[in-house]
Amino acid sequence: MNPESAAPWITVEDVEVRFPIRRGVLARVKGHVHAVGGISLEIARGETLGLAGESGCGKTTLGRVLAGLERPTAGAVKLDGEILFSPQRKKPPTKDQRRRIQMVFQDPMASLNPRLTIGDLLTEGMAEHRMLKGESRDAAAVRLLAEVGLDESALWKYPFEFSGGQRQRICIARALSLRPDLVVCDEVVSALDVSVQAQVINLLADLRRKHGLAYLMIAHDLSVLRHVSHRIAVMYLGRLAEVGPAESLVAAPKHPYAQALVAAVPVPGTKRKRKALPGEPPSAANPPPGCPFHPRCPQALPICRTQAPASREVDGHRVWCHLY
Ligand SMILES: Nc1ncnc2c1ncn2[C@@H]1O[C@H](COP(=O)(O)OP(=O)(O)O)[C@@H](O)[C@H]1O
Ligand code: SF4
Ligand SMILES: [Mg+2]
Repeated sequence: MNPESAAPWITVEDVEVRFPIRRGVLARVKGHVHAVGGISLEIARGETLGLAGESGCGKTTLGRVLAGLERPTAGAVKLDGEILFSPQRKKPPTKDQRRRIQMVFQDPMASLNPRLTIGDLLTEGMAEHRMLKGESRDAAAVRLLAEVGLDESALWKYPFEFSGGQRQRICIARALSLRPDLVVCDEVVSALDVSVQAQVINLLADLRRKHGLAYLMIAHDLSVLRHVSHRIAVMYLGRLAEVGPAESLVAAPKHPYAQALVAAVPVPGTKRKRKALPGEPPSAANPPPGCPFHPRCPQALPICRTQAPASREVDGHRVWCHLY
């Protein structure tokens, strides 16, 4: 699978997000959670970049930074070379710049206002961005519903009248209503019944081809990502461990953490057993020095305890590990 163009288009440069930890009646800052600890990557037009890693490693925070919902504490997100989000950027991004990156969340019920009809939910973004006029907005809403496989009658209904899978289709239609270039899909099928997960994934793949969309597809394991991504990035405790073409990353991961993540995915048709990674990731409030994975790494070297590894190119993958 090759994206339409391999030229970097969205670039994430040394992005860091630290959340203050406040304690006591005066809410004094007692430390920071290093949710994202300096990440650089790029996404090409029309590309699906998978982002994998255990719960709490910073995937959602990174996705929220891309969608402009969280400000990075350092670094920058650029679109076509222009800074979109950065602590240095004084003026806020324009409406049009914000429109170009949308996000779909894990829980469709929580992200749809229960008091609005589907018609209102699908047209409110268009109204805010002054796209189209009243009547043509309604026509656009009907077209969006058809694109996600829902009937026109949905326009006058409320979110509670739909199943989980249908609600997620509505969230996807709402994201598309602004004609974005990139959609951040944060665990969009993890809350759905297994029977409808594949339908939603296939729908996203069809929409990508039809509209030339790019996706940042976030998931905690590789079972979904391996089939839909061009490349996969593996994150551990706020940092990247490995980035590579999806097929070869799953077939031959280089980083010990990526290897553990691959081993945790059952392979249909083979005898390979699911092997869970032992231990819990350390707290992001107190990340270990050196390589963040060293307390759990079966191949750790003495240097891993003190020096964070720089990235190296290994067989077409970018790998952050002292073994290479
Ligand atoms: N608004 C917040 N305030 C404080 N800590 C946060 C906030 N959002 C996320 N975190 C912390 O940042 C880390 C990364 O969280 P998150 O990005 O949600 O990870 P993931 O999506 O990979 O599960 C976690 O330790 C989480 O507790
Ligand atoms: S840098 Fe060291 S601790 Fe980290 S993954 Fe590589 S071998 Fe393991
Ligand atoms: Mg998350």
